[in-house]
Amino acid sequence: MVSKTKEITTLIKNAKKEARAEVKKTPQEEAPYTGPVKWPVNCIVGPGLEGAIACESKIGYVNGSKGELIYRGYDIFDLCAHSSFEEVSYLLLHGELPTGKQHERFSSQLLHCRRVPQTIRTLMGFPVEKMNAMAALRLGTNLMRQESTYVDQEAYRPDRFPSISADEDSIPMETRPRGEKHAIYEFKEKKGGSKPKEVDKKYGPPVGFTPTYRLISGVATIAGAVERIRRGALPLEPDPDLSHAGNLVYMITGRRPTPIEERIMDVTLILHADHGMNASTFATMVVASTLSDMYLAVGSGIAALNGPLHGGANAEVLKMLREIDDPKKAKGWFEQTCEKKKKIMGFGHRVYKAYDPRARVLGPLAEYLVENRGSDEIKRLYATAKELEKLAIARLGETKGIFPNVDFYSGIVYSCLGIPVEMFTALFAVSRVAGWTSRVMEYLENNRIFRPRAVYAGSFGKKYVPVAKREE
Ligand code: ACO
Repeated sequence: MVSKTKEITTLIKNAKKEARAEVKKTPQEEAPYTGPVKWPVNCIVGPGLEGAIACESKIGYVNGSKGELIYRGYDIFDLCAHSSFEEVSYLLLHGELPTGKQHERFSSQLLHCRRVPQTIRTLMGFPVEKMNAMAALRLGTNLMRQESTYVDQEAYRPDRFPSISADEDSIPMETRPRGEKHAIYEFKEKKGGSKPKEVDKKYGPPVGFTPTYRLISGVATIAGAVERIRRGALPLEPDPDLSHAGNLVYMITGRRPTPIEERIMDVTLILHADHGMNASTFATMVVASTLSDMYLAVGSGIAALNGPLHGGANAEVLKMLREIDDPKKAKGWFEQTCEKKKKIMGFGHRVYKAYDPRARVLGPLAEYLVENRGSDEIKRLYATAKELEKLAIARLGETKGIFPNVDFYSGIVYSCLGIPVEMFTALFAVSRVAGWTSRVMEYLENNRIFRPRAVYAGSFGKKYVPVAKREE
């Protein structure tokens, strides 16, 4: 297996060299978002919570100006070159790479959790074929909650948590008047709180690491079933001899992947596993911070990821490339798009102002697959993407820090693996479950409900007028 996939490892190592060489050419520094945080913290907050510090984390770090992505201290390029999704999930959840024994045990736990027959049976009773794949995935996650927990039964209801409060007065905060540049958020020192063990005891089955394993493994099986049901086929049982990545390709396409395909899917899973306080991670954490449960929290992550400004962009990119259709038409299309001030899908990022390291890996993987097995259509779309990249970087790279992001090339990679466009964002979710659940577990150690404020800009003192007297 290793020798067969050696060329993929070489591509990744070369991508790392290219990334590092480019950063050396244009070294830029950004405010280091590195800890530890001493609360209360002052930060300059822009619209969309840009710059706001929501919590401290040891899970992952994105350096936007250097184009660096770190999981638990390890460079993403090194993890892609040498690791697997199973190992990376363990790393994100538990803080260290697993030893041989831990790896064996974790893999067998994932293997055990990969089968969710009751969930799939129930899912088949819904009109999945008429649903958006992400809506179906979210539904499946909810059904899995019913299969895997007894949380809605009276005996498992949690005790109240007296120390947790949503009372606005417990969140001292001063906002500057509208128009001024920053707001100061002040967090109280934490007084004890709900440590995981306590939570475990009170919450029974749905809390602790068990749901995280079930979700990391089970959501992939649900994604496979969703695609099969969508095209009128019966869902497939996971194959115990295949890895997580191998199973994913198998359960979606019905074809056991070659070692190269399995390795490439594994790399895409590693690349998408975690990425700081992005919208879907934040959504997941907000739900978890209310001490709801992991399944509902992950369902919220799936919902947030679906949007075209976030994970949904990978499908939009392929649609965009199909619309342009030919590298020769890229220039005209690009000019028109800029003129209309429309965004180019798969470009730009709130944090990266340099080339996204994930796109650095996915670009060469796309090229490799296109050259080795691409259809005429995908070859044309890849050439169109390369042309668009050149044009967009020349116009927007230096001036606005806009470069390809993770979604620009992932769709071409997925297409070459036989994954339909409707499933692209679901694949992103399958991977990101590892990051969502890891961050929730970490946050719950010192949980405080997320509860920001809005600045009221409306009027005061209006007199109530009965409906009959209101002017039409
Ligand atoms: N194409 C052209 N211009 C862009 C793009 C783009 N893709 N992205 C940002 N810009 C420009 C904006 O027009 C704006 O210009 P202005 O200052 O002249 O008005 C400036 O860059 C800042 O843009 P914002 O939208 O304010 O940036 P923000 O940080 O809020 O948004 C986002 C980041 C949502 C990712 C944005 O770049 C975008 O919409 N990209 C396209 C969708 C996409 O690919 N999303 C996937 C992101 S990766 C992920 O979530 C997994």
